[in-house]
Amino acid sequence: MWKWCSLIEGGVVICFIVLLLSYGAGGLKWLRLSPALRKRYTKLPKGSLGWPLVGETLALQHCLMSTTPHSFVNERRRRYGNFFLTHLFGSPLLASTDPDMNRFILNKEEPLFTSSLPKTLSMVVGQNALLMLTGDRHKRIRRLTTSVFSPEVLRHHSGRIQQLAISVLKTWKGRKVIVADEARQYTFNVALSSIMNVGHTEKAELFRVKFSALRSGARALPIDLPGTAFRTALQARKYLAQMIEEEIEERKRSKDIRYDDLLEKLIQAPEADGGETLQNEEIIDLVLSSMLAGFDTSANTLLFLIYYIGQHPNVLHDLKIEHQEILREKAADDHQPLSYADYKKMKLTQLTINETLRIANPILSLHRRTLQDVEYNGRIIPANCAVQVWLRSLHTDPTLYPDPYSFDLDRWQGKPPTSNNFIPFGMGPRRCVGMELARMELCFFLHCLVTMYSWELAEEDSPRFFPDPGMRKGSWNRRERKVRELTRT
Ligand code: HEM
Ligand SMILES: *[C@@H]1O[C@H](CO)[C@@H](O)[C@H](O)[C@H]1NC(C)=O
Repeated sequence: MWKWCSLIEGGVVICFIVLLLSYGAGGLKWLRLSPALRKRYTKLPKGSLGWPLVGETLALQHCLMSTTPHSFVNERRRRYGNFFLTHLFGSPLLASTDPDMNRFILNKEEPLFTSSLPKTLSMVVGQNALLMLTGDRHKRIRRLTTSVFSPEVLRHHSGRIQQLAISVLKTWKGRKVIVADEARQYTFNVALSSIMNVGHTEKAELFRVKFSALRSGARALPIDLPGTAFRTALQARKYLAQMIEEEIEERKRSKDIRYDDLLEKLIQAPEADGGETLQNEEIIDLVLSSMLAGFDTSANTLLFLIYYIGQHPNVLHDLKIEHQEILREKAADDHQPLSYADYKKMKLTQLTINETLRIANPILSLHRRTLQDVEYNGRIIPANCAVQVWLRSLHTDPTLYPDPYSFDLDRWQGKPPTSNNFIPFGMGPRRCVGMELARMELCFFLHCLVTMYSWELAEEDSPRFFPDPGMRKGSWNRRERKVRELTRT
């Protein structure tokens, strides 16, 4: 087991070096330019570019893998302030953990900032993904997408989502389960049903298998060689694209059937807003990228949510009271399925979700690039510079959140979150379109979990954030992952 771990860890380090070498040229150029740049930009934010080529990547990696993952940021915050220069993964960048600066960056898209993700990522998620689009195109597609995940539409989906939660939870009766796997199963089902509602068919199962390959590739290093996760993902993508295309054609043939999902909205797009028809390729990209954006994020949040509740029996106790009250009202109402109105009543549950997202937001940072020199608060950010908003560092800033790593619902007492200090779903023109869906699916799962079972954590464990969020034990080996005990009340 140990050998296995260190082998993979060694592999990760080697991969990083490969990555750095392949991106290194850009970093070198920056370093060469750096004296000139510094003369021109005497008001550049403070910070360090670290070592040639690797910059400060190894320091960051070391911190993230240690038991104090936030020390990298804390140290720089102390030395340079909340907006600092660093050099990571082969490129220099400015990192912001400052509430006002974040607001400035995220609210100002063009002409100052634009969204900026690695080009290789677009090979997996597609060039037409919402996260990749900019300008007017982004606005139009975003409008269409938002309408699918709006409260008005979610109202119709509440029963469907509850059913999906129950069908996963039914299998938990009297056994230990690996919550990470179960959470993924559930959030995949929810995402598929709201994005491409194909029911519990063979098609859905095939989609799940192929999609899981795509998802691994999106997180892997972009090395297109036989056998790599990246290559497998590109192949899976072709297959998925074909499946979606068939579905589109089938739906165009049978116009009268209603599906209530994103795919339907995208096919009907021109009628809906008088614009041009979306090409099949665009629709495919949007379907796959929405699945990617909404699936792991929600699964990890659900995993951490259950973990933190399991760690705090008093919270579990109070949540039970909240949900049993809702259940009592339902009993009086002929046991109707959960509704949007019920979701709105789940105040303590929402607070628990907020505190979980504060400590363990599945998204580490938001990525932008400057389109021109930008001046802010007496500092100048040069044009074409990577700028990142570090969400988790903002949410664990001890001056905003005392004792930041302790899970404590009381910290919100009389201090509801302000829009600057707490932005787990981002803000501005790119704020998460799936926020309500994500919150609702988490609330409904918890409702079913605490009303169907009494349960506890089966093993000691703690969250890990690198290379991707999950539980620390068995980080590298699926079979060793955390197991939890469940017994029927
Ligand atoms: C707990 C779960 C989730 C979290 C924490 C989360 C967080 C975020 C954040 C921070 C952004 C902003 C990205 C940026 O500014 O660069 C974002 C964007 C986005 N999210 Fe989520 N998300 C979650 C769930 C979902 C779900 C369930 C869906 C859809 C099914 C979804 C779809 C999207 C899309 C399409 C965007 C891109 C929006 C745009 O570029 O205009 N997310 N999400
Ligand atoms: C949870 O956070 C959101 C901000 O993302 C806020 O609007 C909401 O009021 C918070 N919920 C509770 C119950 O505090």
